[in-house]
Amino acid sequence: MVETLTHTTFDVQAIRQHFPVLNRVVKGKPLVYFDNAATTQKPQVVIDALTDYYKNYNANIHRGIHSLAEEATAAYEATRDTVQQFINAKQREEIIFTRGVTESINLVAYTWARTNLKAGDEIIISGMEHHSNIVPWQLIAEITGAKLNVIPVNDNGELIMEEFHKLLNEKVKLVSVVHASNSLGTINPVKEIIDAAHKVGAIVMLDGAQSTVHLDIDVQQLDCDFFAISSHKVYGPTGIGVLYGKRALLEAMPPFMGGGEMIKDVTFEKTTWNDLPYKFEAGTPNIADTVALKAALDFVSGIGKSTIRKYEDELLRYATEQLQSIDGIRLVGTAKHKVSVASYVVEGVHPQDLGILLDNQGVAVRTGHHCTQPLMNRFGIPGTTRASFAMYNTKEEIDVMIAGLHKAIKLLR
Ligand code: ALA
Repeated sequence: MVETLTHTTFDVQAIRQHFPVLNRVVKGKPLVYFDNAATTQKPQVVIDALTDYYKNYNANIHRGIHSLAEEATAAYEATRDTVQQFINAKQREEIIFTRGVTESINLVAYTWARTNLKAGDEIIISGMEHHSNIVPWQLIAEITGAKLNVIPVNDNGELIMEEFHKLLNEKVKLVSVVHASNSLGTINPVKEIIDAAHKVGAIVMLDGAQSTVHLDIDVQQLDCDFFAISSHKVYGPTGIGVLYGKRALLEAMPPFMGGGEMIKDVTFEKTTWNDLPYKFEAGTPNIADTVALKAALDFVSGIGKSTIRKYEDELLRYATEQLQSIDGIRLVGTAKHKVSVASYVVEGVHPQDLGILLDNQGVAVRTGHHCTQPLMNRFGIPGTTRASFAMYNTKEEIDVMIAGLHKAIKLLR
């Protein structure tokens, strides 16, 4: 399928052929899609996997003995194997399908944290978390009486690691941090965080919403306890995600939701739980999207993450240079290690106005607080304009954004 793409030289035009939406015209201009941190576009193989499932073998899984049910079950479970390999989990039972990163974090909050935390315990998150890695812990802190502490962020948008180490003590039971920031692109030193947290007996959850698509993920090497993945940010469908958890932790946790599939035996007196991973997959799951997620991961692996990353790094470097050359633009997020996210503010211009004018040029960027309000408060801004790059973007498209910015700034200032 993607054999033609596995050359050492990265052929972006060949890559683009796989993404039908890139042929779109928006406001009379060719689409320039720079909102990849919000969601990536889908290659034809993912779209085909979805339609193939519905056209040819739509059936409920794990329940029927008829052929369609067996085919659907096999395809669904094949995705679990692919995810296991994609993140190098030790066992397939450690891969739980959820609706996305938000549900994965909430699952850990309402099972592990609700039953393991008590008043006086401490949770550490960071100042650059998405709301989905803040609010669940606030809710759990309220229920359990645990205290929430926050690692501060420096002016470059990096975690102040000395402060993190100062926050660590025996009372800390959980550290939950973002691997790569959606607003700034910062790649956090998660290995250092995990090793230090383990030394005081805390477990570590990583929000991999942005990192999974850009970085090689090896959960065994990282030694993280939980890792959350979003399918739609890795070229897969929306509505499906993954929670990776170490088996011993998952075994000891109570179920998240009750219903069919997650049980072993039900009587009115006592119900027992199914084995992993099904204990955490109550009800009919999102079969079609799970099946199509395999196509997305195979597509990425077929090209090779390091090849993609090298190309995206080049795009980021180019975009950063070009943005810095515009008078009155300030980059927000200048960390040393970044994924391909360029967030910026323009002096005297509201990000939303900028977003509308760029859309008129066919350029899709995200504007606003990016669901990281505390981080925006840290920088004293209401929000940014964010261009986030994927494997199918080009330097020519960056030039279109830069030209659009010049035009917009002239109009708005
Ligand atoms: N969290 C996604 C973003 O950063 C939606 O845009």
